[in-house]
Amino acid sequence: MPIKAIKDHLSNNPLKNHFENNFLKEHFNDNSLKNHWTYFFPENIENKGLKQVYGDGGLEFRRFSWKDLDECVQLFRSVFSADPWYDEWISLDQVRNYLKELTENPVFEGFVTYEDSNVVAVCLGHRRSGWMGKEFFVDEFFVENNRQGEGIGTRTLDFVGKILFDEGYTRLTLITNKGIPAESFYLKNGFYSNEKRTIMIKEF
Ligand SMILES: CC(C)(COP(=O)(O)OP(=O)(O)OC[C@H]1O[C@@H](n2cnc3c(N)ncnc32)[C@H](O)[C@@H]1OP(=O)(O)O)[C@@H](O)C(=O)NCCC(=O)NCCS
Repeated sequence: MPIKAIKDHLSNNPLKNHFENNFLKEHFNDNSLKNHWTYFFPENIENKGLKQVYGDGGLEFRRFSWKDLDECVQLFRSVFSADPWYDEWISLDQVRNYLKELTENPVFEGFVTYEDSNVVAVCLGHRRSGWMGKEFFVDEFFVENNRQGEGIGTRTLDFVGKILFDEGYTRLTLITNKGIPAESFYLKNGFYSNEKRTIMIKEF
């Protein structure tokens, strides 16, 4: 690994002013190691040293790696083009750009569930550090169309929750539509709706 790359990374990092306290230690903890790895080896799709696999019956739960992207793109489009979303993604490239942007977020975290070498569920999100602690914001969560309602989403969420809890996260947050099956799914899985909050949008 070229020393210049390490210097560039550290001098561009917002934590550079905190070298004298524990922030640096935290910067290199297991949770952020992935970001170092992808900084130095962005094209290394295997990322083997960082992969965690947990078996659960026929399902395998893993952290997201770059090799999962194309399959996630296909799955995302077929799930969100269907009921109840009917999103109009005009091309796979458009979806690819969207998901790639999510995964390039420096605080990105992602998880995939495999069955027989196929991705059947995906959870993509990012870390947010607030005064109440470290939370995981779920940007996208989806299960293959034909496998919904079989418990795969629940088991995937259990896996994600276990990993994040072990890594010091205090909660999960997400935005979804009211009155759709996903809302019942989250309520059944321990989420509550914050009625005091609203989503504000300004269109240009
Ligand atoms: C929402 C979703 C992630 C839930 O995963 P899942 O594997 O289907 O859910 P589980 O089987 O673990 O849990 C079943 C419960 O979830 C709810 N549910 C949500 N979507 C469902 C679906 N399409 N089919 C059946 N149950 C669904 C039901 O309340 C169900 O409970 P019930 O069996 O008592 O009726 C998945 O259905 C999905 O990908 N839906 C389309 C994409 C989406 O809406 N994502 C969330 C966007 S924020």
